[in-house]
Amino acid sequence: MADWNARQYLRFEDERTRPARDLLAQVPLERASFVVDLGCGPGNSTELLAARFPDAEVVGLDTSAAMLEAARARLPRGRFEIADAATLTLPRPADLIFANAVLQWVPDHERVFPRLLSLLAPGGVLAVQMPDNLDEPSHVAMRETAMSGPWSYKLRDAVAARTVLPPPTAYYDLLIAAAEQVDIWHTIYNHPLASPAAIVEWVKGTGLRPFIDPLEGDEKVQFLEGYRRRLVTPYPMRADGRVLLAFPRLFIVARRAA
Ligand SMILES: C[S@@+](CC[C@H](N)C(=O)[O-])C[C@H]1O[C@@H](n2cnc3c(N)ncnc32)[C@H](O)[C@@H]1O
Repeated sequence: MADWNARQYLRFEDERTRPARDLLAQVPLERASFVVDLGCGPGNSTELLAARFPDAEVVGLDTSAAMLEAARARLPRGRFEIADAATLTLPRPADLIFANAVLQWVPDHERVFPRLLSLLAPGGVLAVQMPDNLDEPSHVAMRETAMSGPWSYKLRDAVAARTVLPPPTAYYDLLIAAAEQVDIWHTIYNHPLASPAAIVEWVKGTGLRPFIDPLEGDEKVQFLEGYRRRLVTPYPMRADGRVLLAFPRLFIVARRAA
């Protein structure tokens, strides 16, 4: 897949950063000395962490060179490094591993989540937020568009790019063995956007990438137009002429046993 595009991602920066703020608000730590922003992207979540824990060493980790470059430009005094959440190792136990909108791209949560918890200091916190929107019309329409065009063969792997999230009970059972507290909740945001075309622009920065990256030229244009048309019925115009994008997200905050 092509690298991430920080500018496209940040076109909806306020909306995308709000769940990071909501997640951080539930982190039960007064202070921290080592904080990891896993999947830091362009540094928007790292900025929140640095403001909340001004005395901590805050490190942003990501697999995308383009995102790390954007993060370094945003926070020139920050520390940003290439690292993969699936194989993460740390130089010392962390007080907080913060993973906002990243682990939905990482498979094998049964292995990865307990491992992340094991990288924390006693009493440390794993804070995770993941979009739980694969059954929303925005994502059903992606799969339908992919399967119903001449590009279906090229897009046969796109559907598997995102991890299908296990139910909250599964995360609870995975984490509670080594945690003194596991807090899990869903929030459904309802984002007013200008039109179905704006929904396309939103998902172009994230969930649509595996579907459009393998396409080129006219094919990409046709895919995007076919996808936009499929959004018109499930996202009708509201009283002010805009549409509402319902966006369910799953939050998990686990505190490692002291
Ligand atoms: C949707 S952005 C989230 C950015 C930021 N954390 C935020 O709160 O908006 C997801 C980021 O996860 C990164 N990513 C995807 N897979 C990853 C992995 N296996 N390990 C680390 N980062 C990964 C991507 O490169 C991208 O920058």
